[in-house]
Amino acid sequence: MLPSLFLLLLLLVGGGGATAGHGHDDAAARRTMEEFAGFPASESDGGAFPLRVDSENLQRQIDELASFSDSPSPSVTRVLYSDKDVQARRYIKGIMKQLGLVVREDAVGNIFGRWVGSEAGLGAVATGSHVDAIPFSGKYDGVVGVLGALEAISVLQRSGFQPKRSLEVIMFTSEEPTRFGISCLGSRLMAGSKELAQSLKGTFDNQNVSFVDAADSAGYKIHPEDLHNVFLNQDTYFSFIELHIEQGPILEKEGVPIGIVTAIAAPASIKVEFEGNGGHAGAVLMPARNDAGLAAAELALAVEKHVLESGSIDTVGTVGILQLHPGAINSIPSKSHLEIDLRDIDEKRRNDVIEKVHKSAIDISKIRAVELSEFKIVNQDPPALSDKSVVNAMEFSAKQLGLQYKLMISRAYHDSLFMARISPMGMIFIPCYKGYSHKPEEYASPEDMANGVQMLALTMAKLSLE
Ligand code: GLV
Ligand code: MN
Ligand code: MN
Repeated sequence: MLPSLFLLLLLLVGGGGATAGHGHDDAAARRTMEEFAGFPASESDGGAFPLRVDSENLQRQIDELASFSDSPSPSVTRVLYSDKDVQARRYIKGIMKQLGLVVREDAVGNIFGRWVGSEAGLGAVATGSHVDAIPFSGKYDGVVGVLGALEAISVLQRSGFQPKRSLEVIMFTSEEPTRFGISCLGSRLMAGSKELAQSLKGTFDNQNVSFVDAADSAGYKIHPEDLHNVFLNQDTYFSFIELHIEQGPILEKEGVPIGIVTAIAAPASIKVEFEGNGGHAGAVLMPARNDAGLAAAELALAVEKHVLESGSIDTVGTVGILQLHPGAINSIPSKSHLEIDLRDIDEKRRNDVIEKVHKSAIDISKIRAVELSEFKIVNQDPPALSDKSVVNAMEFSAKQLGLQYKLMISRAYHDSLFMARISPMGMIFIPCYKGYSHKPEEYASPEDMANGVQMLALTMAKLSLE
């Protein structure tokens, strides 16, 4: 049987003492709902307010969005401010408008769709995620948290619910660092990063296109002072909840449909460059070389070694970018460029690894007589904790929906990491096939997505009425 918002929310009014379907007669329930949510309960479908997720429509939207891609299906590539990104933005705004939401965009293209509540002056309850996709990835990462959130709004609208606090869906700009090397660009700015606002003025992609020009080509005319307008006040949101695929195997393996995230691991990223003399691959003899490529290879191995030395399974390190210049088989690399991703749930342990990697880079440059021309920590973010108020609301919803849940940490980062700086934050995870993510095989079932959407809808409804 479909869970009914009517009955579920009734429990909030009644202090949660009863279980759905018991302990309240229909007339009393209707009266309470009318007072509570401000709409005539009798107009609803059979006197109940079902949280009916339109899974078919959600899947259709996910598939349609996936068609805006710069790589062939089933992979998805959608990079910030590319034509495909612009098409995806248009698509999302179109759905927001269909739902009657008030749509606004900020200077960098964070998109907000607001369902104005009866007490519009109160802090809103927000949700959202991203639709940019790293090269050759899948169609669910981030997308479930945007299209699923819009479906959650639609579910609540169809149920006849009336929000007190406004409900808002956010599509964040560039959660992925693909183009400019900056993760969670939109949410980082929203959370007030002056450092980022300053550095974006001089940020270029690897084709030497400036951030400002790239934004311009996507229809966002950025003036330096606009970037400060992206910052949000601490009281903008009463709470923020992000729905996301787990991107790990635990929920699927344990057969648990819902993860309630209690903390997000601390990510850091580092750019490194070595420079040597290069030269002819045949003519320069081995003792005379200072090979920038080998320095990079040695550092990549050092990253693995230091991560493993931490002794914790929670410390992870990846060299996801390794480029050699000039990139010819018969030329000794004269320059190498590495980008290193380091994460841990323990910030100090992660920072210790960063220091060791730095020391190794210096040692390698001395031993190999190459110059360490750059060692730049691009970001070194602290972990974020979910807020008790949001966790409580999510636990409440899971119980009311009869969904088993697991408290867990997020090893991936999310816009929630930054939203936690300006709002009480929580995240809902759903299982994904074998935990696959950031590759085309990424998959979440319609049933799991429907559970996530119901969880999000009920949690938002509950928080909206507080
Ligand atoms: C997000 O995409 C991450 O890399 O954790
Ligand atoms: Mn991702
Ligand atoms: Mn994501």
